[in-house]
Order: sequence, then C-alpha cells, then structure tokens
Amino acid sequence: MGKHSHTLKALREIALTYSIGSQPDLPAMARELGAVIHRNGPMPVSALSRLRKPQPTGLTRWLLAERSKPGISILVMAWAPNHHTPVHDHGGLWGLELALHGALEVQSYARDPVTENLSATGRDWLGPGDASWFEGGQSHAHRCRNLSRHETALTLHVYGGNLAEYFTYERTGQADRWEARPQRAVIAGPRLA
Ligand SMILES: [Fe+2]
Repeated sequence: MGKHSHTLKALREIALTYSIGSQPDLPAMARELGAVIHRNGPMPVSALSRLRKPQPTGLTRWLLAERSKPGISILVMAWAPNHHTPVHDHGGLWGLELALHGALEVQSYARDPVTENLSATGRDWLGPGDASWFEGGQSHAHRCRNLSRHETALTLHVYGGNLAEYFTYERTGQADRWEARPQRAVIAGPRLA
C-alpha cells in the first residue's frame, strides 16, 4: 500500500472514530486529521490519478466512506484553479473540511431563522492540515474558493449524514435579500481506498 493510501486510510479511520453522537467533538477531529497531514505532508493531486481525472473547471467529489448509524459521509474533493462555490448550506448536517493540498478560502455566513437572510461572520484561510467546521442546524452557510489560480487543490470533507440535497444562496437585486435554490450533490466516481 502506498504512502497516500495510508494517509487516506488514517484520515478515514479518524473521521469515523470521532463521528459519534449528534454533535461530535469537531475541534478534536480537526486536530487529529490535521496532525496526519502535518506528519505525512500535503497529499499531491497525483495520489488520485488512478481515479477519474478531476474536472478541469469546477469541483470533483469522490466518496471515501459512509456509514448510516450514526450517519456520516467522508469525501475528497478536487478544486480546479480559482474555482469558487456559491454560498451554500449543508442540509442541516454538521460538517468539517480540511485542506489536503493547496489552500482554500472559506467565507462563513450566519442565516437568520426569521428573515432567512445571510450575514458574513468570518473568513478563514486553510493550508494543508488546516480545517474549518460547523455544527448541525439551519443557521450556517459558507462559500469556498481555491486560492490558487494555477493549481488544483484537494480537500477532505466529513458530514454528519448523506449530503445529497442542499441549498445555494444568491443575492437578489435588493440589498440583503437572498434567494435559496435547491441543489443535488454529484459524486464523480468510485469509492476511494
Ligand atoms: Fe460546504
């Protein structure tokens, strides 16, 4: 088994171990996952070369593991250079994302349960081994961007269930008004590892 397969296996085991209860200890999970990347080094895009090639533009998702009780899904995503997502939620699931290669910007938003409007709450920059996470519920959304204009970035995502359906949010013409649009997540290919 190659080094990168070992890294993926270690990440998967940690994510599964920490995904217990309805609100797992996400800071502890982030710390353990990050330690693997700090120890083994960033995971090169070539580590996934046996799989379907990442889309030259956009975001490619692969499933690393999933479990139903308690619900968890673990994915690896490849980000085309400069790719950015719209503002989106995660179907009410808790979640964590960790940079494996390259760097990501994460702009977080809080969603008002009454007005359903969004307000920016903070911005993080994730290098290899850094993570951002959020609790379950309807109040969190974020937008992510590959900070490189030239290189693909790789990230690991852990969610408290199957993130099949979620919403993206776009500003309407009126300031402070956002329009929600239902989306379906697409998995690119075979299960990893
Ligand atoms: Fe997300």
